[in-house]
Amino acid sequence: MNAKNTDFGTFAQDVMLGLSSTPKTLPSKYFYDSKGDKLFQKIMALPEYYLTRKEYEILESQHKQILAPILSLNQSFNLIELGAGDGMKTKILLRYLSKLKVDFTYYPVDFSGSVLEELEESLANELPDLKVNPIQDTYRESLKKQVWEDGRPNLILFMGANLGNFGVDEAKNIINHLRVGTKKGDLVLIGFDLKKDPQTILNAYHDKQGVTQEFNMNLLDRLNRELEADFDRDSFTHWPTYDPVSGECRSYLISQKAQNVNIGALNQTFNFEAYESIFTEISKKYSLSEISHLASLGGFEVKENFMDSEGYFADVLWERQ
Ligand code: AVJ
Repeated sequence: MNAKNTDFGTFAQDVMLGLSSTPKTLPSKYFYDSKGDKLFQKIMALPEYYLTRKEYEILESQHKQILAPILSLNQSFNLIELGAGDGMKTKILLRYLSKLKVDFTYYPVDFSGSVLEELEESLANELPDLKVNPIQDTYRESLKKQVWEDGRPNLILFMGANLGNFGVDEAKNIINHLRVGTKKGDLVLIGFDLKKDPQTILNAYHDKQGVTQEFNMNLLDRLNRELEADFDRDSFTHWPTYDPVSGECRSYLISQKAQNVNIGALNQTFNFEAYESIFTEISKKYSLSEISHLASLGGFEVKENFMDSEGYFADVLWERQ
């Protein structure tokens, strides 16, 4: 597989669009180059970043119940995963299914080619008999193409609170894509980070070691490396916010002074006023009632909500109507 995971044209265009907008913005999907992938791995191990551990707990303790509906069909099926990542959590499901000797094909979808390569390699070592078909694409494109569709039932995993990286309207749009990308009776399992004490949420995006800051700053490094930009990293700071009403946790980079930044590949200079922000990421937190509302809007029926013991995180199982 090709490790170079970004179409240069699209990346450059997105940066041009984002930095020409008021307020300035950069898409969070560009966090994940090989350095960003490694930083995210470090984030998942941070004491403040509860999300991964909570979802892991859900899968460990409830994988049998989660998989019961697809297994009860007594038929071979497709297991599709949007945003596969390192597969740590998915392997709980894959190991269980392999142990039961059920016939299924695993389609990990990820935007990052390096992530897919590593996942393929570790699966070949751990579960050599598994049928794996990696797909390097965006969520929406993969749902439009449905390369997995062969008439068998589908279970689509969309875990890791990845849907939270989209605002409400975009999340609805993705769920519409999920409806278009499935057929009646197909199942989807979506991970949502739930609304909780605002301080707990904010701390998860403002860790003491500064790994999340590095992760956010990597966007600027990437522009410097790949688009011949001359961002002075030290003049930008990481600024996360959380709004308990909308549930939106937003991350910004703040220019600490008035400055011009030149982006060679765009042949363009961007002007920053003192304390001007670049909006880089949204991580939306949901309530259970908002989640159920999303399901019915999208034409899905809630089968069951699986939660950890503290009610921090939910993996919800929906059936396509
Ligand atoms: C991978 C989207 C779930 O929003 O919590 C972690 C990414 N950003 N720390 C999240 C992230 C900053 C993460 N997701």
